[in-house]
Amino acid sequence: MLIAMTSAKGAPGVTTAALALALSWPRRTVLAELDPAGGDVLAGYGRGEVSAGGLAELELAARRGGPARHLEAHLLQLDAGARVRLLPGLTDPIGARHVDWHRLAGALAAIDGGTTDALADCGRLGAEHFPRDAVRRAAAVIVVTRSSLRAVRAATHAVAALKAESASGAGVCALAAVVVAAGEPYGEREIGDALGIPVLGALPRDDKAASVLSDGVPAGRSFHQSALLRGAREVAARVAEFAARHEAILSPPAQVPAPVHPIGHEHVR
Ligand SMILES: Nc1ncnc2c1ncn2[C@@H]1O[C@H](COP(=O)(O)OP(=O)(O)O)[C@@H](O)[C@H]1O
Ligand SMILES: [Mg+2]
Repeated sequence: MLIAMTSAKGAPGVTTAALALALSWPRRTVLAELDPAGGDVLAGYGRGEVSAGGLAELELAARRGGPARHLEAHLLQLDAGARVRLLPGLTDPIGARHVDWHRLAGALAAIDGGTTDALADCGRLGAEHFPRDAVRRAAAVIVVTRSSLRAVRAATHAVAALKAESASGAGVCALAAVVVAAGEPYGEREIGDALGIPVLGALPRDDKAASVLSDGVPAGRSFHQSALLRGAREVAARVAEFAARHEAILSPPAQVPAPVHPIGHEHVR
């Protein structure tokens, strides 16, 4: 199951939210950095200690045989148990024009035969070379927004654009929002009313924990109990549940074929 996360304008914290959700995800997951402006996790959370070809190298390999065969080889472990893996994004945004988003989205949606979910950080909606196919292929699209009037206004336009796309039959059916730093000043309910889509939760403002995720500031012992990670666990559960519900609508279970000899057949008179 693929979940696409995107923003409307500015930098509300999509990457930080996607990473926090991935680390808190209730199932095995891959955080895929599809932002055409480039990936941030290796240089941020990873403090530049690991380098990997990520998306750019995968794309080169994919030309020789499809990404599904190569995807695994380009994933890095993000946690000790390898429940959370990372597909590092582009180091040079110039490469975005060469990425086959359609092919990649298909591979991400079916990762490990569907037993692993993929959370895609798609960056800003409408950016050049935006991974539109990931948004179309996703079981759910999550718009990440701050709670200021200008952020909510921008998100309203983004939601309208996504809805227009879905009305034209181009995918995107399950849309929801996650608010970063709710109550500054608008609350989740007001934002949901303004956007006309469900708000699945809010990640609290937590500068310290956010700087661990976005800039690799060393995590103290309390990091996993920080307000941000506690919030992320709650939001991750709700996003996963929302996406699973819509994924089930997208792909209803295969119909069980009628038995050749109906059960109890011999009793029918
Ligand atoms: N919940 C949060 N609390 C405090 N600061 C945050 C939070 N989420 C993100 N930030 C900060 O906002 C800035 C932008 O975050 P980032 O995730 O890179 O945004 P985007 O991916 O939308 O461009 C970073 O400095 C990050 O630390
Ligand atoms: Mg980002």
